[in-house]
Amino acid sequence: MGLCLLVLIAIGSLIYWLYTMNKEYYVLSFFAPRVRTKDGRPLDSIAPVAKGKTIFGNCFDMYGLKESDVFQHSRKRARDLKSSYIEYGLGVPLYNIIDAENAELILNDQSLISKSIVYEFLHPALQTGLLTSTDKKWHSRRKMLTPTFHFNILGQFEEIFKAESQKFIKQFDGKTETDVSLSELIPRFTLNSVCETAMGVKLDDMAEQGDLYRKNFGLIEKYFMERLGNPFFWNQTIYELFGAKKEAPALKVVHDFSSEIIAKRRILLKEDLEQRKNTQADADDIYINKKQRYAMLDTLIFAEKDGLIDHNGICEEVDTLMFEGYDTTSMGLIFGLMNMSLYADKQELCYQEINEFIDDDFSNLDVNQIAKLKYLDCFVKETMRMFPSVPIMGRKAVRETALANGLILPAGTQITIHVYDIHHNAKYWDSPYEFRPERFLPENTKDRHIYSYIPFSAGQRNCIGQKYAQLEMKTLLIAMVKTFKILPLVEPKDFVFNTGITLRTNNNVKVKLVRRK
Ligand code: HEM
Repeated sequence: MGLCLLVLIAIGSLIYWLYTMNKEYYVLSFFAPRVRTKDGRPLDSIAPVAKGKTIFGNCFDMYGLKESDVFQHSRKRARDLKSSYIEYGLGVPLYNIIDAENAELILNDQSLISKSIVYEFLHPALQTGLLTSTDKKWHSRRKMLTPTFHFNILGQFEEIFKAESQKFIKQFDGKTETDVSLSELIPRFTLNSVCETAMGVKLDDMAEQGDLYRKNFGLIEKYFMERLGNPFFWNQTIYELFGAKKEAPALKVVHDFSSEIIAKRRILLKEDLEQRKNTQADADDIYINKKQRYAMLDTLIFAEKDGLIDHNGICEEVDTLMFEGYDTTSMGLIFGLMNMSLYADKQELCYQEINEFIDDDFSNLDVNQIAKLKYLDCFVKETMRMFPSVPIMGRKAVRETALANGLILPAGTQITIHVYDIHHNAKYWDSPYEFRPERFLPENTKDRHIYSYIPFSAGQRNCIGQKYAQLEMKTLLIAMVKTFKILPLVEPKDFVFNTGITLRTNNNVKVKLVRRK
């Protein structure tokens, strides 16, 4: 009897304790600390809390979902809740941003530059390179790499983009019309371009390894998504014990490829430097000397000589630049060419403009001429609005953070910026699912919130390669539109989209090319 009473008191006390704890922590969500408001207003008046699928908050909302269902899940949440919202994951609050005002708050907050936990899932592939690192390491790497995207260097890279674009077109020599699978051909083009510009290594005799690299990065992305959907695998130790093994062969292929690129460039650079020794005018001007071309990788190799980075550091930056540099532009080009095919009238406007400014033999195709193509710029922008290559970005509040919107985010809060939802938010975009490049004409942009369009992110951790990417994409688009009429072979209404590390579709995106002259 006495024992029963003791047990009852213990259970009662436990329930009371859990009840009081539940005010500060979402107990069933594995003690996730609750987001509060500064002035004690109800949380829902600033950000609604999404109802979970189980009693464990939102911990298992994505469990077992296919990649395409993950994409739809986020879209549905945005449609249902209509404003940036809160979820509770396994022991952490999740703040989901779907509007420009809150995106601005997050991206401009100097204390929110650390990436969220999902970027740790990329550590086996990219370690802590520029994309995934934080604090001092990120600052020093960003400082080291920024000059490699200097305007003069981009001017030199343009020669490579032009040569690669002409090579791309040459593969259709002798054909007056042909059907092409963009999903197959474009990633090869962008990987070649990034290897030649950023790494200073031509892939001509490494085409097969390049294809293997892409295939295996695809696998790494698949495992990344599987891990995202299983909250238990968010824990590093559990993942290493039960999930990581299958990733190892793909990681080996990817790292072997980048190591070979680095080894090749070390040899080429040594030969190059010996040749240039007597002709170098000013050693300090080495990266931006107009006559001489250096790859981004060279900057890292020089920095290694100065003791600023070691071999492993070079590997992580090469893996980062290669991955970020090929996959994102690849999706931009696939959707860009697809849009050319779908909107014949807009393609015609691009064609007229290109004909006005670019010579038929492409001899004057350079950075300055490209800057004159205002309609093409709108076309590319609208493509990236509708199909942002990077559809989500993540940040983490490393300490308790008060936001100007009145929310207090506890330490550990994971923040996801849903770029896709911001780019389709009817608050900023009239008929958001319609393709209208004219939205980006100066007269139509002046009243729009700047953070409603963030394909390259914004603030301190914006995309270091954004000018490079636009130049590369525009160069191929110019070459293609000038040479071919691009006709449609797909109907995007049938597309099934996936959230991966980049935006993906399961469908093979194809177009028909008909030679213009
Ligand atoms: C259409 C093409 C591209 C798009 C849409 C894009 C988009 C982005 C976005 C949204 C971010 C921020 C990611 C985040 O906060 O998690 C980012 C970061 C980054 N991007 Fe790009 N990117 C593109 C092309 C490139 C290219 C061509 C390169 C390099 C050659 C590059 C290198 C990087 C790097 C290194 C970062 C990390 C920057 C940092 O944290 O300091 N990107 N990119």
